[in-house]
Amino acid sequence: MRSIVLANQKGGVGKTTTAIHLAHGIALSGKKVVLIDLDLQGNATVALQGMSISPSPDPVLSELTAVAENLWLVPSPGAFGEVPRDAKVDFERLSQLTQSLAASIDFLVFDCPPRMDDWGWAGVRLGDEILVPVQAEFFAMHGLSQMLSSIEAAAAENPGKAKLRGVLPTMVDYSDPVTGEILQDLRRNLGDRVLRTTILRDASLVEAASFGNTVFIHSPATKAALCYAQLVKEVMHG
Ligand SMILES: Nc1ncnc2c1ncn2[C@@H]1O[C@H](COP(=O)(O)OP(=O)(O)O)[C@@H](O)[C@H]1O
Ligand SMILES: [Mg+2]
Repeated sequence: MRSIVLANQKGGVGKTTTAIHLAHGIALSGKKVVLIDLDLQGNATVALQGMSISPSPDPVLSELTAVAENLWLVPSPGAFGEVPRDAKVDFERLSQLTQSLAASIDFLVFDCPPRMDDWGWAGVRLGDEILVPVQAEFFAMHGLSQMLSSIEAAAAENPGKAKLRGVLPTMVDYSDPVTGEILQDLRRNLGDRVLRTTILRDASLVEAASFGNTVFIHSPATKAALCYAQLVKEVMHG
């Protein structure tokens, strides 16, 4: 089992959108995937509500919410207003859950909250690979170096865990004349830590989310669907 964590202390950079498309894209390739929503706001949980299939007969996975073929969700406890917003994460329980899934599935994807609180760090400590979505905007580097050093520190403290898999430029919009410069700047600063894939800005992602679905189902011919299919390939095959 590989586990991939979407983390960035900034909100609105595309963590949740990337988590659900990466998870669903890998599931569509035939691998078994569990998405764990670690954000008490439960955006990933809500964004998948339009997809639902009958529960899996697998005894381990039947505890989880089946959302599509090969895709299961561990919903955020906050998604349905069941817990206070300052609820503490039960790290031991989460750690046991991830261990118990290892034999049954191929990929685990964690969606972290915007503030890197207990929940976000739990994901980083439990995940093998960290993906950091970064909005391709003028202040893209701002706060990113700090985030990357924190991830390095977490990797040093948790051997075998929290390895940076890459920085993913999101909401890339080439009609904006400074976009090329911003991407060059990211690559100059971070070298091959920036993934080859970039995610273009595409309103179909917002629309698909409002239908509780991914663009792979809602609008498979869009730029966004192509970008996320490319990300799935890069993450799965290097
Ligand atoms: N590539 C994109 N193009 C256009 N809108 C996007 C894109 N990625 C995300 N969005 C939208 O931007 C908002 C923030 O994205 P989200 O994935 O929720 O960020 P985060 O989880 O980092 O807070 C959402 O409304 C989402 O639908
Ligand atoms: Mg989010």
